[in-house]
Amino acid sequence: MGYAIAEAALNGGHDVILISGPVNLAPPRDAKFVSVSTSDEMFAAAHRHADESDVCVLCAAVADYKPAQVSPGKIKKGAVQFSLELIPTRDILDSLGRRQNRKFLLVGFAAETDHLEANARNKLREKNCDIIVANDARVAMESDENELLILSRDGETRKISRAPKEILARELVKIFTNSQQKSLTKKM
Ligand code: C5P
Repeated sequence: MGYAIAEAALNGGHDVILISGPVNLAPPRDAKFVSVSTSDEMFAAAHRHADESDVCVLCAAVADYKPAQVSPGKIKKGAVQFSLELIPTRDILDSLGRRQNRKFLLVGFAAETDHLEANARNKLREKNCDIIVANDARVAMESDENELLILSRDGETRKISRAPKEILARELVKIFTNSQQKSLTKKM
């Protein structure tokens, strides 16, 4: 979805910084591309580029946990059971939402399997986002199509019914652009 949104934003005449982990997709040629391979690298890159952005869209499926320790070399196979200790990764969306006096519009995603709207509404509030784009994880997985529920801080709710990701991305970019312009007008 992130790559489709980047492409749609470029087609809409916007400048795009695409921060991406390893995926099987070629980045759009006109985007500034920042390649990362860990959640900590994505955290740092997102914070580095946030203030030069009008809209930050966080739709990467970042791992929620990471290994507590990283071995410098190969871990040898043993005869007994082996467990990995996992610790939570830093939540990038949450940390951007906490930035004081942020000027950028903050958009988060929520993939849910139950209580889609209620969970997305909680996420909008808890992570101090301007917009949450929610979808049913079972519809979106490994599919080129999706359907979306879009919740805004001002209480507006929109639905986009099942469509290819490119069409959804185009609609999302329009919604983000309008919201960003509305919030600019309010601040002036
Ligand atoms: O809480 P949950 O993982 O469902 O939230 C999803 C949203 O949080 C997405 O926008 C995702 O990009 C973002 N996220 C994040 N940092 C993490 C995990 C998820 O910014 N470590």
